[in-house]
Amino acid sequence: MIIHPAASLSGTVSLAGAKNAVLVSMASCLLVDGVSVLTNVPASLDVYQMIVLLESLGAKISFEEIAHRLTIDTTTVNQVTVSPEIMRKMRASVLVMGPLLARYQRAHIALPGGCLIGLRPIDYHLRGFAKMGAIIETQDQFLNATGALKATNFVLEYPSVGATENVMMAATLTSGTTKIINAALEPEVLDLIAFLRAMGAMIEITPPATISITGVSVLRPVEYAILPDRLEAGTLLATVAATGGSITIPDAPAYYMEVFLEKLVEMGHSIICGDKQVGITMVASKNPRAVSFKTMPYPGFPTDLQAPMMVLQTVACGESIISETVFENRLLHVRELQRMGAQITINGTTATIKGVDQLYGAQVIASDIRSSAALVIAGLIAQGQTVMAGIHHFRRGYDQLETKLQQLGAVIAIEQKEVW
Ligand code: EPZ
Repeated sequence: MIIHPAASLSGTVSLAGAKNAVLVSMASCLLVDGVSVLTNVPASLDVYQMIVLLESLGAKISFEEIAHRLTIDTTTVNQVTVSPEIMRKMRASVLVMGPLLARYQRAHIALPGGCLIGLRPIDYHLRGFAKMGAIIETQDQFLNATGALKATNFVLEYPSVGATENVMMAATLTSGTTKIINAALEPEVLDLIAFLRAMGAMIEITPPATISITGVSVLRPVEYAILPDRLEAGTLLATVAATGGSITIPDAPAYYMEVFLEKLVEMGHSIICGDKQVGITMVASKNPRAVSFKTMPYPGFPTDLQAPMMVLQTVACGESIISETVFENRLLHVRELQRMGAQITINGTTATIKGVDQLYGAQVIASDIRSSAALVIAGLIAQGQTVMAGIHHFRRGYDQLETKLQQLGAVIAIEQKEVW
């Protein structure tokens, strides 16, 4: 991707459906025997990858990209095995385990892959299934989980999003009441709960963070609209703020973005939210102040917006301390930003950033979805051209985001070639 310096970006854009909601909702269609329809589905690489996975299990899928409408027919599912090639491409593939165990009492999956942002084991997922009575063995590169599940109380030592989702899906068809204590309650988890309830699942949330699932004998196919992507909204806001412009996002779920929006206001940017906290208009400050933050499980500062927000700090006024507490290796973009002139030092998983006047274009490499977005933002505010390799990360997490940025005034070209 060739990124040229941008003047202040401005305009109005709408959001795609949330990647981290649609992937798990697609997986949960395995819980039903029938034809489900998902709307507002983003045409991103991860969605296509999940389609490949579900088709490898025998599902019949059609995706009308322009209409963002995905039809999933699971009446022909006849497999419980997921190959290494498929698992290696995307960590979210592990989310088929819970539905397969619940429906077929068996899941045979290769160990998952995903971004480089840390070891990202699945021990919490497996501990949850084992607590429900599944027998889990590893044979070479495969995990084999078998057994009829039973209701249980499962305490998560960390509010893992994926583990919460996987165990919750497994429990929807398991008789009795399963409790997940210290559960993740990210917006995408809440959207999955709404999706499963639409299928007929019985799920209650008890504050502060217990999810109780009472199993039912059968779930029915649904038609469901995926929620707008708060992470795309945050990425767009960070991009426009970095260039000193203004943006309106009419469908932004501001109610799910409070800590992130507070940090933009602390920097000096002006944020106006619509009725019922739907819709955001931002006018960027021309001399923003540096802010510090720590990434935390929801409702804390989202780890998926840490990299884009860091870019804003590299040219803000003052010093910023950013602590990444969710993943142990999610500062890979720092190296690339330093090569563009950013003043950043790292101590463990904490980065200290001193604002500079200017970044400079360079050849950079993206290492995960959110670092690719951060490097695009850096390229838009750098002096001189930036060439970013690793565009597949950008494509994995966003649906034509570069087109939206071009609509706002960015000059970005895509060249399909081996850069190095
Ligand atoms: C989901 O990943 C999201 N992905 C991630 O978004 C997001 O960053 C993350 O939640 C946190 O919000 C999808 O929803 C597809 P976790 P997940 O389980 O479920 C450790 C993006 O860019 N852990 O909450 O994998 C783990 O290593 C992606 O859109 C275990 O140790 O996140 C991490 O340090 C990146 N054992 C921490 O917990 C486990 O069994 C949080 O992971 C599971 C997780």
